[in-house]
Amino acid sequence: MIEIRAAEITDLPRVAQLVALSFHPGGGWQALWRSFIQLGIEQDLRDRWHRERPHYRCWLAVLPREPSSFCVGSVEVQLREIQGQPHPYLSNLAVHPDYRRRGIGRRLLHTVEVSLCPTYSQLYLHVLAQNQAAQQLYARCGFVVVGESSTFWGGRKFLLRKSLGGDRPYSPSAISSWV
Ligand SMILES: CC(C)(COP(=O)(O)OP(=O)(O)OC[C@H]1O[C@@H](n2cnc3c(N)ncnc32)[C@H](O)[C@@H]1OP(=O)(O)O)[C@@H](O)C(=O)NCCC(=O)NCCS
Repeated sequence: MIEIRAAEITDLPRVAQLVALSFHPGGGWQALWRSFIQLGIEQDLRDRWHRERPHYRCWLAVLPREPSSFCVGSVEVQLREIQGQPHPYLSNLAVHPDYRRRGIGRRLLHTVEVSLCPTYSQLYLHVLAQNQAAQQLYARCGFVVVGESSTFWGGRKFLLRKSLGGDRPYSPSAISSWV
């Protein structure tokens, strides 16, 4: 039985491991390279945790009975300025390769949406144009493409938005209800 819960700071190494494996799969020299990437991801997670809170949240999907609750999924959400306004922005949605197509990605998205609603009315994210799996998931969960831009490496990425149930505009005081 998979459980979704808010991450604690002690979870960040296992989140970094999962994100590195999900976005940089592969064996051999790629596995070696992954361990360096993982260190960088963990540092980024710690920076966001300290710098962005209380406007930052990370959720995990865990197997609670496994030793130290094995992490099979994660997602982050923070406030980011989009089109001149601060909006919740979702990033690093990742599901362990052995646990995909079991609805975990959808459950993590749903958890984020419930935590934001009704304080926020819109949720944004970016997805790479080549990432068909993630695009299918987001389309199925009600996200629509609202923009397109280039990545640092010259590829294309889409800006996606989902309207949540809330209808209140952003206000700094509303943020406290998010944590
Ligand atoms: C994208 C990702 C998070 C999906 O997680 P998941 O737990 O497998 O997704 P779910 O099981 O909740 O899938 C829900 C729906 O999304 C769509 N979907 C998910 N993966 C898909 C795939 N590989 N191909 C086509 N559709 C897919 C399907 O419609 C699926 O419903 P179905 O299984 O009933 O057909 C996972 O593949 C992953 O971690 N990928 C690597 C990291 C990544 O790309 N993250 C997104 C960054 S923007």
